[in-house]
Amino acid sequence: MEKGLFITFEGADGCGKTTQMKLLAEYLQKQGHDIVLTREPGGKGLGEKVREILLNYDGEVSDRCESFLFLADRAQNIDIIVNPAVEAGKIVLCDRHTDSTVAYQGYGRGLDLDRINLLNNIAVNGRKPDLTFVFDIDTETSMKRVGKEKDRMENAGIEFHNRVREGYLKIAQQEPERIKVIDASKSIEEIHKEVLNKIAKKFF
Ligand code: TYD
Repeated sequence: MEKGLFITFEGADGCGKTTQMKLLAEYLQKQGHDIVLTREPGGKGLGEKVREILLNYDGEVSDRCESFLFLADRAQNIDIIVNPAVEAGKIVLCDRHTDSTVAYQGYGRGLDLDRINLLNNIAVNGRKPDLTFVFDIDTETSMKRVGKEKDRMENAGIEFHNRVREGYLKIAQQEPERIKVIDASKSIEEIHKEVLNKIAKKFF
């Protein structure tokens, strides 16, 4: 492969996207592809520190400050991890990316969507996912999966998380070529098969 691929995994907390990302990574590795796994927030190094603040800081955090921290982490992830790997022909799988900010800070917190999109564009500096999976699940199930030990974002309440879910579905409608919605209430095996189907259709 001359140029690599950038594939992102999105959805509610507890939707199972991280499990699916790892299954896909194992599959692609067995096929002989060079795979890089990363996540937002918190790819490695400085990103880990930003993640720690975003998920565990227990003082007041303004919605705008929260957005900028996610965006700062994104710029670091793109520059340090994603771009070098894609340019070297690798397949990068990323747990959360720009659509998380639109869904959580835009639809969830209610910040202006045009401004979020503008800031996202600045953070990614031209890099766009070649494919995005949104794992869709009803909020009650996802919150049950998360359990009692919730981080700062998971604690934002059921209405917030309902808005996030609706947000993801709207974004997916707007970009059907890039974003594939997958029913995350199915079994891990069924979902994995669906992911492989979509990957095969699009790239191989
Ligand atoms: P994480 O533990 O990675 O959640 P999960 O395992 O469900 O992916 O925590 C990331 C949290 O940060 C999650 O609640 C979504 C939120 N988030 C945003 O609100 N905006 C963003 O731009 C990103 C990347 C994440």
